[in-house]
Amino acid sequence: RKIAVLFGGPGPEHEVSLGSAGSVLAELDVLGWDVLAVGIGKDGRWFTGPGSRDLLITLADPEKLPLGVAASTEPAGPRTTTYPEPPPRSAFEGYDLVLPLCHGRWGEDGTLQGLLATYGLKVIGCGVTSSAVCFDKQVTKAVLTAAGIPVTPGVAVRRRAWTQDPEETGRVLAKQIGAGPWFVKPNRSGSSIGVTAVERAADLPAAIDEALHWDDVALVEEFVPHRELLLGVVGTGEALTVSPPLEAIQAGEFLDYTEKYRGGQLRFDPPAGVGPEVIERARQLATEAFEALGCEVFARVDLFLDTRDGSLLVNEVNTIPGMTAQSAFAQLMAQTGLPFGALLETLHQLTEE
Ligand code: DAL
Ligand code: MG
Repeated sequence: RKIAVLFGGPGPEHEVSLGSAGSVLAELDVLGWDVLAVGIGKDGRWFTGPGSRDLLITLADPEKLPLGVAASTEPAGPRTTTYPEPPPRSAFEGYDLVLPLCHGRWGEDGTLQGLLATYGLKVIGCGVTSSAVCFDKQVTKAVLTAAGIPVTPGVAVRRRAWTQDPEETGRVLAKQIGAGPWFVKPNRSGSSIGVTAVERAADLPAAIDEALHWDDVALVEEFVPHRELLLGVVGTGEALTVSPPLEAIQAGEFLDYTEKYRGGQLRFDPPAGVGPEVIERARQLATEAFEALGCEVFARVDLFLDTRDGSLLVNEVNTIPGMTAQSAFAQLMAQTGLPFGALLETLHQLTEE
């Protein structure tokens, strides 16, 4: 099999992507596929060929690299080609199928998918529309709500209103949201970047400022006491494989970047004491969300199990979930009889068909 694997990118999840790519490239090496590695620098340069990932690791922020991510021993060597911007179609010569592993902005939000589509390349995973919709939490909530799917409640705060009249905007906001606590997030972001857990109303403005540093819209979500259930979905219109849920268990109060990648205690366990009817409802909800959002080939659906009344809500859908062999997505799909190598094989097959 032949495939181009894309990673890095100018967004804030650059380093996370280098972790995903390390695992995937190592697995494809074991499987013996013919792989074109394509790295996108933070500065917009593109690198193709062996050594591209090693090069990006040397340029990465060591404080943000997930623990354990290391350069391979392969010398970067002269086979790496550098382009000052997206390379011409001919750089993909012989590799018509692309697996994008760029998380977050300018990778997971439809922009990269659109660029690759204009090249006539087959992109594994969600297309332009579902990528853009899922990466915009506000739009995700609107689409899911219209489809009758319950979501975590949230109110948008726009930069314009917030900058022009923060007091009035704060008053309007106070009427729309509960008494707290809250989660304040950039509307478009991933890996918990820019997210603040807020207990007191007095701390809301600073959290909104922080979220608006990353996007033009901040979301203030009511904190729902919950257990977080993650599900993996793989497939196309004809047939979907939906994993049973795993629960994200963390040591800290909230799942921040450090917990996720920098030595936290995060692990994914079968949800203890959750009955088969709730598991089935979670799988049904994940299927409905995947379809309502127009997802293709794969995604990870993150649900909240509300511990007050046992109801399930969709928190978000990740169209390029973390993709190391230890990531939630790999563990989820392994439960369905797709260990990491077979998973990559299936994603390839589904796109080639
Ligand atoms: N945004 C990270 C990569 C995830 O959702 O897994
Ligand atoms: Mg996410």
